[in-house]
Amino acid sequence: MIRTILTYPNPELKKKSLPVTIISASVRELARDLAETMYDAPGIGLAAPQIGVHQRVIVIDVSGKNEPPDLIVAINPVIIHSDGDSFEEEGCLSVPSYAANVKRHAGVIVKALDLEGNERTWNAEDLLAIAFQHEIDHLDGILFVDHLSPLKRELFQRKARKAAEEKR
Ligand code: NI
Repeated sequence: MIRTILTYPNPELKKKSLPVTIISASVRELARDLAETMYDAPGIGLAAPQIGVHQRVIVIDVSGKNEPPDLIVAINPVIIHSDGDSFEEEGCLSVPSYAANVKRHAGVIVKALDLEGNERTWNAEDLLAIAFQHEIDHLDGILFVDHLSPLKRELFQRKARKAAEEKR
């Protein structure tokens, strides 16, 4: 089912998500909904708190438009190693019509459970590494705009307030 994506400044996005203890039918349904909602948007990643569910589940698919889908479902993902630096432009389905360069690690090793409860390890670089860092941040209530310099964040907040006022 396609779910509504919460947008900034919804306070639900600031909450920390809890680890999944049992991969129940509802967790499998959550993963399906996340994937469906991500592909519908379309986006390359989505985390459960973005649809108001505070469980540590993310989905990612960084395959290009003309490539077959390559869905990653990661439950309780943890970055166990990171190296290198990157500074690439990011956007977020929860922060529509805003993009900015964000300092990240260029490579990460991520451990997580898959939907069968098996432990999986991803050795991610470039776009996939950035997507993992971005989505895992969501599980801790962190948005990419929280990584901006104070000046840039102030500009973003001013822009967001203005947009919200125009909507009223
Ligand atoms: Ni995001």
